Amino acid sequence: MDLKTLELKFKQDTSLPLAAGHRPVFGEGSPTAKILAIGEAPGFYEDQQGRPFVGRSGQLLRKLLREVGLDLQRDIYITNVVKHRPPENRDPTPEEIEAYKPYLDAQIRLIKPKIIITLGRFSMNKFLPKAKISQVHGIAHWITFDGRKILLIPMYHPAAALRGTRVMNLFKADFIKLKNALDYFETMGELPTELDDTPSSSRQQLSFID
Ligand code: URA
Repeated sequence: MDLKTLELKFKQDTSLPLAAGHRPVFGEGSPTAKILAIGEAPGFYEDQQGRPFVGRSGQLLRKLLREVGLDLQRDIYITNVVKHRPPENRDPTPEEIEAYKPYLDAQIRLIKPKIIITLGRFSMNKFLPKAKISQVHGIAHWITFDGRKILLIPMYHPAAALRGTRVMNLFKADFIKLKNALDYFETMGELPTELDDTPSSSRQQLSFID
């Protein structure tokens, strides 16, 4: 099965718990992306447009991805743990997360990313069930998924970054780590075992470091 066929199957799946009255938000980006970013669930604007991360937090996420040189059409795929909007933007329940799991797992199997960025605790807890985001964000974790090693980088959710300067600065520093890891990959042909957030001279010109 390819990603398009999976998307079609998802859109026709009326058994999903939040499908009624909501637009499906499967994901978007490159089907062969090096990086898969996983958020929580669609909100109001995502539900309106049927696209992930198009509201305020999405704008921040997309801006930072662009500023570290990542192209949505080429390098990255964005999706969510839960793929229909929960009522009133409440947290998804464990049952809902479980119901959407086969689709997220199939996306990971088909895209075969080298790096997974989790945005917020729901996607982080899929891979690191006991972790606390304040303790593990920006730290490289190697996971094995479907027999492949993937570098997992837990990050704060962009909505949390928008709520305060402290988390915003941590969130931006984690994007520099991601950029450094990609630069290392380009020159060494493999990913680093540790991430660092030291801006190089060229990276210091990124407009979000202010
Ligand atoms: N927040 C998320 O976690 N996902 C979206 O798609 C939008 C907002």
